[in-house]
Amino acid sequence: MDRTDSAYAGQAVYTSGFLRVYDRVLYGFVSPRVWRCTKHPLLNLYERNVSARHLDVGVGTGVLLDQCRMPLEHPQITLMDANANCLAAAAERLARYQPLLHRGNVLDSWALDSSSFDSVAMTHILHCLPGDSILDKAVVFDHAADALAPGGVLFGATILGDENLQTPTSRLVLRGLNRKGAMSNLGDQEADLDSVLAARFDRHRIELCGAVALFSAGA
Ligand SMILES: C[S@@+](CC[C@H](N)C(=O)[O-])C[C@H]1O[C@@H](n2cnc3c(N)ncnc32)[C@H](O)[C@@H]1O
Repeated sequence: MDRTDSAYAGQAVYTSGFLRVYDRVLYGFVSPRVWRCTKHPLLNLYERNVSARHLDVGVGTGVLLDQCRMPLEHPQITLMDANANCLAAAAERLARYQPLLHRGNVLDSWALDSSSFDSVAMTHILHCLPGDSILDKAVVFDHAADALAPGGVLFGATILGDENLQTPTSRLVLRGLNRKGAMSNLGDQEADLDSVLAARFDRHRIELCGAVALFSAGA
């Protein structure tokens, strides 16, 4: 991605060195202690929604796909990410599924066939995307809706900026990561997530886990 792109900073932090410690840093410490949400609700979300024709957007190390129970032994998995390090790390970890790799910025056209997936996951990527609120990032829900086959499910999670969900520690971390550009979620509110999902899907659900919103939506 071009360095001048407003989405550059949100994906540039995932160097191969950081990816080696990512699971331990994020799921071992930051997520439970700062955002007050462990990995388990996310694995449950995957297990409830992942399908045999799955697209994972913003893959990081692929830890959630690796650790969740799949609906069958040989699912067709496509991994999409702007960062080649993440695609390489997740592809190696998920090699048993022989995933297809797709490099691209989620804010641009996804260049994937319409109606070609029964599940699309966007876990912990929305808060990395530039914008003053979730409304500024809503185009990614249009792309996800287009990629889903009839009856398919979109699911994922994002860290919200809502003031009432923050602790003194999470407020400090939120501000620091937003200053660095690694996250752009100070204005990300549950109410806006609710409205962008309601505008595109017949049914949707949002559950809060600390400062993290877990969502799912479908026709
Ligand atoms: C916080 S990690 C989440 C990883 C994983 N889904 C998880 O929950 O552990 C964010 C991921 O989104 C990717 N990403 C960030 N901005 C992106 C963009 N504009 N387009 C595509 N991928 C992006 C990053 O490269 C990284 O893999």
